[in-house]
Amino acid sequence: MVRDRRGQWFDPELVDLFATLEDDTTFQDSLALPDVGEQVAAAEPTAAVVLVDNPRLDRIAEAFAWVIDAKSPFTFRHSMRVARWSVDIGARLGLSPSALTRLRRAALLHDIGKLGVPNRILDHPGCLTDRDWKVVKRHPQHTYDILVQVPPFAEFASDASAHHERLDGNGYHRGRAGHTLTQTARILAVADNLDALLADRPYRPAVRPEAVVDILREGAGTAYCPICVDTGIVALAGWRAPSAEDRSDVSPLDQVPEPAITLS
Ligand SMILES: [Fe+2]
Ligand SMILES: [Fe+2]
Repeated sequence: MVRDRRGQWFDPELVDLFATLEDDTTFQDSLALPDVGEQVAAAEPTAAVVLVDNPRLDRIAEAFAWVIDAKSPFTFRHSMRVARWSVDIGARLGLSPSALTRLRRAALLHDIGKLGVPNRILDHPGCLTDRDWKVVKRHPQHTYDILVQVPPFAEFASDASAHHERLDGNGYHRGRAGHTLTQTARILAVADNLDALLADRPYRPAVRPEAVVDILREGAGTAYCPICVDTGIVALAGWRAPSAEDRSDVSPLDQVPEPAITLS
């Protein structure tokens, strides 16, 4: 596969170097060692180490959001929009600028674990088999496992991976009880559902905003935090729903207003 993609996906020089490892059993065995992650980190040339400040951390989170969203046409710009809805809700709830920055990064990266779910499953039209559904339900666990290893993102790994949890404990992947879910996790759950419902999915068309409000209200107190639902509904009221005459190149879904607040 690597040879086939030489010059298209991959740098030819790197492909040729990679090919020299084909018969290197010592290298191949080393891939199964438990400390392979540390070995890779130790091999990184020190000259290539880049120190990042806060704006750069934001850009890294945004870049990963693009990668995550580009995996499937159905999730195009999903993470970016969840970040906007989350910050909108968080700002209305009076979160501090630093809490909003943290919330925004958690929202941008909440579905990073989806990179571990095959497209055969993500883009499947119709119902999933039990086995495939189990694979989908593991994506928040992958989100946690990835973020917890990145020091600046580890502090919100738990919140980001809780976006499919429910107050009544019937969510996934941990089935956490409501009182363990932080405000960040609660906001993310509402923002994630809000955006997912407003977008087309392989198994259903987009849900109308009025029906989204009903679904969120129905889940308030059992699935979602009622305060976050009420605030999400207020945020949704400021959003213009797609219309048949819409000829704009920008999808109305992407016209979620950028909240006028200062992050830090
Ligand atoms: Fe998710
Ligand atoms: Fe999501």
